[in-house]
Amino acid sequence: MRHFLFLLIFSLSGTFAAAQAIIPIPVQTEARPGVFTFGKTVDFVVPQSQPEIKKYAEELSRFIRPSSYPVLTRKGKNPAVIFQLGKDEKLGREGYVLEVKEAEITLTANTPAGIFNGIQSLRQLLPAGLENRQTAFTGAISVPRCRITDYPRYAWRGLMLDVSRHFFTVEEVKDFIDRMSQYKFNVLHWHLTDDEGWRIEIKSLPRLTEVGAWRVERHGAFGETRPYPKEGEKATYGGFYTQDQIRDVIKFAADRNVTIVPEIDLPGHSMALLAAYPELSVKKEPKFVNPGAKFAEWYGAHEFKMLIENTVNPADEKVYAFVDKIMTEVAQLFPGEYIHMGGDECYHGYWAEDAGVQEFMKKNNLKDTKELQAYFVRRVNEIIASKGKKMIGWDEILDGGGLPKSTAVMSWRGMAGGIKAAKEGHYVVMTPTTYAYLDYTQGDKSVENPIYADLSLAKSYELEATPEGVDPKYILGGQGNLWTEVIPTLQFAYYMTYPRALALSEKLWSPQNASTFPDFVNRLENVFGRFDQAGVSIAKTIYEPEVAVSRKDDRYYLELKTAIPGADVYYSLDNTYPVKFSSKYSGPVEIPEGRLRLRTQTYKNGEALGRELLISRDELIKRAK
Ligand code: ACM
Repeated sequence: MRHFLFLLIFSLSGTFAAAQAIIPIPVQTEARPGVFTFGKTVDFVVPQSQPEIKKYAEELSRFIRPSSYPVLTRKGKNPAVIFQLGKDEKLGREGYVLEVKEAEITLTANTPAGIFNGIQSLRQLLPAGLENRQTAFTGAISVPRCRITDYPRYAWRGLMLDVSRHFFTVEEVKDFIDRMSQYKFNVLHWHLTDDEGWRIEIKSLPRLTEVGAWRVERHGAFGETRPYPKEGEKATYGGFYTQDQIRDVIKFAADRNVTIVPEIDLPGHSMALLAAYPELSVKKEPKFVNPGAKFAEWYGAHEFKMLIENTVNPADEKVYAFVDKIMTEVAQLFPGEYIHMGGDECYHGYWAEDAGVQEFMKKNNLKDTKELQAYFVRRVNEIIASKGKKMIGWDEILDGGGLPKSTAVMSWRGMAGGIKAAKEGHYVVMTPTTYAYLDYTQGDKSVENPIYADLSLAKSYELEATPEGVDPKYILGGQGNLWTEVIPTLQFAYYMTYPRALALSEKLWSPQNASTFPDFVNRLENVFGRFDQAGVSIAKTIYEPEVAVSRKDDRYYLELKTAIPGADVYYSLDNTYPVKFSSKYSGPVEIPEGRLRLRTQTYKNGEALGRELLISRDELIKRAK
């Protein structure tokens, strides 16, 4: 009995050690006592004639030991890491089995993509110090014994990167891809065109990048007070990717099991296109590439008005010939199945006012501008299909009806569009603002960059991409979207993307209900250490309390919630510093009258974590619910 108990306890704590490390949580982890140690001699053994696997093995070998372990095709007597291909239906294309024994690690998969994913899990079991590429790691390198069987729930696990609102270089895009692939994302949705910049070289339409890739430089809040370009002002901010660069990025992504889905956003969001070719609009007026100036009015509930025309003219045949030229080159460049045609937030006001457009609608039996947009979407679908590709678009492409079944829908205005689309028999990718918009504010507004909406890590972790009552076969998966209006640098892009993207990756890779938020947070704290070592600052807003204020009669009450197990929040309302062992928060407190400020600081195991929050009483009262 004592023996049995000992074993049980050992195995539970062992399970904890192995499972604690990995995000997204694997399908199955069996932990055993003991470790594999990377000592002086370890052989990496790969199958013959598998150059991709050999490359992965070489990279892993260099990661663990810069002087590198040998990569061989036959196992000898040394401890070994063995990579092998097998045939196990349940693993599919991307799954793997990772078995760590004391003298041998074996990684088995059906394809190199599965091997790649298995390596990402193994990497998370290795010491975080290895992620530091500046300082050589000198500690012992061992991996807990375990057997992990793992495969994805969804085939589409994406992140969208907007490179129009701010431009990111080829090296930065590659870095973004490399990092997402470590957490088993497999689709980069590359938002290449928008009002603020056209970023893809189209050889037959050179003005798209000569003119459309550049805007005058402005600072300050995007979409608010930035002035329009002055007469004759040189456009100096921007950039674009040449087709050679794009091919290079596609190859880099493919080597990491990432498919790139390019987006050409039509018929709205086209001010950069129209700056280059204004004749394709209804009014044919000269345009500029928007430098982040206000040109729209937003009324909430997805209602808006564009003060400057940013739509192509769907009644003009020249537009379709133009789109054909673009799609011909896009289809030749990108090997993936899908091309994204946008379709979102298209203002119909200029169409509605134009006699030529009205006549076109009458001739084609289109009763309103919604049907006109649906007509445009069908024409673009035909063009994309003629290049051997499938079309995907934002959920507005359902409006107006008649969407061909072969077209996939990306649901962003909540889940409703996705549910409707799946019920109509379209494939769907779920990217609802409510769970997946990575540009939304992720912590307290007093320390974060406030934008028009909030999305906490806990909320992202609630994403369930297959709604009840929907046939799961239509749900391809989901995706986090990083719009970059307020994100000018790669470092800040990481800050906004992670850790919420990790919550999404778990929701898209791991089985439904495979874990809980507190357990995810436990594993996340381990992953924080890996990002720290890699020199990448990601948001740790989860350490900062959620500040809620309630009102009862004329009194106001403060609530401070923390999502971190074992963390305590200390606070003061009298401008003293909330230090450990002073005023520990234990339940709602009344906010007294007076000119005072709330200060908070979180502690865990005696260590201050996250930032201090400092919020005036006036601001607290404004937040009262
Ligand atoms: C979108 O957020 N406009 C798709």
